[in-house]
Amino acid sequence: MQKIRKAVFPVAGLGSRFLPATKAQPKEMLPVVDKPLIQYAVEEAVAAGITEMVFITGRNKRAIEDHFDKAYELESELAAAGKDALLHAIRHILPKSVSCIFIRQSEPLGLGHAVLCARPVVGDEPFAVLLADDFMDTDEGVPPVMAQMAALYEYEQATILSVQDVPRAQTRQYGIVSAKPYKKDVEQVNAIVEKPDPEQAPSTLAVVGRYVLQARVFDHLAKLGRGAGGEIQLTDGIAALMQEQRVLAYRYQGTRYDCGSKLGYLKATLAMGMKHHETGAAFTEHVKGLQQ
Ligand code: UTP
Repeated sequence: MQKIRKAVFPVAGLGSRFLPATKAQPKEMLPVVDKPLIQYAVEEAVAAGITEMVFITGRNKRAIEDHFDKAYELESELAAAGKDALLHAIRHILPKSVSCIFIRQSEPLGLGHAVLCARPVVGDEPFAVLLADDFMDTDEGVPPVMAQMAALYEYEQATILSVQDVPRAQTRQYGIVSAKPYKKDVEQVNAIVEKPDPEQAPSTLAVVGRYVLQARVFDHLAKLGRGAGGEIQLTDGIAALMQEQRVLAYRYQGTRYDCGSKLGYLKATLAMGMKHHETGAAFTEHVKGLQQ
């Protein structure tokens, strides 16, 4: 039985919905309270038992590499100033057992192309894909979303897509699946289509930014031409994979914030600001005051 050891983080998108904030840094470096989106996603992968993090970077890649690298000068300055808590926070961004690999996507040809760039490192193993701009929050006591999916993978040994219901008017923003019930919170997918018009969408069950994929998907992605929006679509690779293997849709437990959009990002900041160990109490009081 195979476990998931590797996670792919495509961070080479243009982030045009967030310009000018994303002019000189990837959107995955936008902070929610005090951590960048990419750090939350990496922590989610770590909690799922994943030990190899593969970042698919584009222009402005340095900020992400630097974030996960050692910062000698900063560390010695914090040490000299006796700022031990901050020193700990920057030294322990990743557990020692975790390694990071950076691969360049030479052109932003689409999510499917970004995932294909990971092939030389992932090889023949099942792997996770996490889109860090889909920020996933879970209640205390509930495992993070990728840990939920990794547990399901270990049992099912099948491709797993995280899904949620969306309003029909929004189907144009997502890959949409047609699926039949399989077991609690899990459906078996029989069709997937990228960004359908609301009238043509086969359902309102949308794929969001967490996947567990079988390595066979690389063969299909390698053969694809450009699909919807002129991009090489991960959805098309999964559609081809589905002709030969089981693909499951998993209704995860948790709340997703689309941090690639301004409104979703603001909502995430509000939710996490109200929970944060330093800001939580005072910020909650402030928000309640605004409502009066
Ligand atoms: P999005 O569809 O959100 O596109 O990408 P985008 O270009 O980043 O953002 P907008 O629409 O211009 O504001 C979904 C995910 O796929 C990655 C992005 O970084 C994001 O995590 N991606 C997309 C790549 O890594 N490479 C690509 O060529 C396209």
